[in-house]
Amino acid sequence: MPIAKARAQAGGPSYVNRDIRDYRPESSAFDVAIIMSQSFGYFDPTTNRDVLGRLAAGLREGGRIILDLWSPEFFAAHQDEREFKVPSGVVREAKRVEGDRLFVHLDYPDGGQEQFEWQLFSPAQIISMAESVGLTRLLACTDFDKTTFPSPINPRVQFLFERSGASRATSAICDYRVSR
Ligand SMILES: C[S@@+](CC[C@H](N)C(=O)[O-])C[C@H]1O[C@@H](n2cnc3c(N)ncnc32)[C@H](O)[C@@H]1O
Repeated sequence: MPIAKARAQAGGPSYVNRDIRDYRPESSAFDVAIIMSQSFGYFDPTTNRDVLGRLAAGLREGGRIILDLWSPEFFAAHQDEREFKVPSGVVREAKRVEGDRLFVHLDYPDGGQEQFEWQLFSPAQIISMAESVGLTRLLACTDFDKTTFPSPINPRVQFLFERSGASRATSAICDYRVSR
């Protein structure tokens, strides 16, 4: 069990092993949420928005969330099959895009198979969804480098959002007054 091993080795952190659809973090409990490797978007659009809304509600005001997502532009241009070597043999991967969803089929060396699918988000779509749950976009980049802009030749895009709140609204009003 990877979680049991992590618990035994790492000590400090508290690990929660839950279906994300059932996970309701305590309100305002966290400074940061990080979703790596497109571990977001598995469900229908309404459920995906609900998941993001609950993660946002778990952030304190001014808390931040990083979404590391697949780029729809990249995968639209790479609906292909490829093989990659693993210690036990060769894994075959086939990818296709239908509408705003990416479908991936994997054939493993032992004859096993897996299929995954995700909702893909254009920058405008994810920003709109994030804003609808009270998040404000701070930046979008790739390679986890804020100076590297997303590009169609890179499969990953990172979005950084901040949970909007009263304190931010106050500071925005202050800025406005100062600048007049
Ligand atoms: C592409 S992997 C990425 C894992 C990890 N985020 C990383 O970057 O290494 C996607 C992960 O999402 C998890 N996952 C899929 N459906 C889930 C669900 N309903 N609730 C929680 N996790 C889920 C899978 O178990 C898998 O570990």
